[in-house]
Amino acid sequence: MTVSSLASASVRAPASIDALIAALRSVGYFADRRLATAVFLALKLQRPLLLEGEPGVGKTELAKALSAVLKRELLRLQCFDGLEQREALYEWNYAAQLLHLRAAEGSAPAEELEREVYQARYLVHRPLLQALQAPEPGAVLLIDEVDRADEPFEAFLLEYLGEYQVSIPELGTVRAKVAPITILTSNRTRELNDAVKRRCLYHWVEYPERERELAIVRALVPEASQALAAQVAAFVHQLRSAPYDDHFQRAPGIAETVEWARALVALDTLMLDPEVVVDTAGILFKQHDDVVALNQTLATEALQSAQLVA
Ligand SMILES: Nc1ncnc2c1ncn2[C@@H]1O[C@H](COP(=O)(O)OP(=O)(O)O)[C@@H](O)[C@H]1O
Ligand SMILES: [Mg+2]
Repeated sequence: MTVSSLASASVRAPASIDALIAALRSVGYFADRRLATAVFLALKLQRPLLLEGEPGVGKTELAKALSAVLKRELLRLQCFDGLEQREALYEWNYAAQLLHLRAAEGSAPAEELEREVYQARYLVHRPLLQALQAPEPGAVLLIDEVDRADEPFEAFLLEYLGEYQVSIPELGTVRAKVAPITILTSNRTRELNDAVKRRCLYHWVEYPERERELAIVRALVPEASQALAAQVAAFVHQLRSAPYDDHFQRAPGIAETVEWARALVALDTLMLDPEVVVDTAGILFKQHDDVVALNQTLATEALQSAQLVA
């Protein structure tokens, strides 16, 4: 069975890319046109969407926003090294099965008891199975940080993404009622399997342009003045650009920008200056070396090149 043969009429996607951008914005997510195009196509073509990018650029948040826009339940599988099928798909509730056996001891032949304990009610549904069984209009399935899982798990995913069905030996095959809208994310700590990539539409998520990050700060930190929000967006943008980016191992993500804006408001900052930048560097950066790198000299230079001080 191909995915496209699954109930396609039930995907009520926004009618255009502009409508999608507006809908995402209405739930607080600011997407650029290229990202919105990738999402739009994933919805239209019913393909999984693989989002790669640095941490903090809004990959996970997109899946949450999409679930809000489409009014579909969000099912999230957080990947990690050693993730196993039973945590991703399903497992049997051994404790409950055991209790059942105890209670029924001697009351029925062994084969009958065995049948009884392998009923659906003793099955623990994990996110990938839940996504197949989600009622109309279906779920948004987020397979988050898939680069953290190991290769056997990727191989297993390949099958899942291809068929949207799984076979449970004791119960039979479970097919998706509605294909879940599937978002995979990767921070690219390693290259993913080519076959997984081929199954998906692919989009590299960039750090936001200054204007878009300003819009995010304005939306999430309304208590910041327009002037301060503009300075924050300009300064972070500068830190992420050459030559300043060379001084840091990890550039600030959007969450750090937002947090920084909040901190500056809490400190009653009206305008950025080198002192306040150095004093709050621990909010912009999460690695000690990076915090140290943002010293008075560098802060002054970056503020000057961003034309934030004379
Ligand atoms: N496009 C966006 N619009 C609004 N907020 C965003 C956007 N991208 C990121 N954010 C904010 O930044 C935070 C971090 O984003 P997240 O999705 O967790 O990053 P990633 O998954 O790429 O590491 C989010 O919780 C959200 O508050
Ligand atoms: Mg994430």
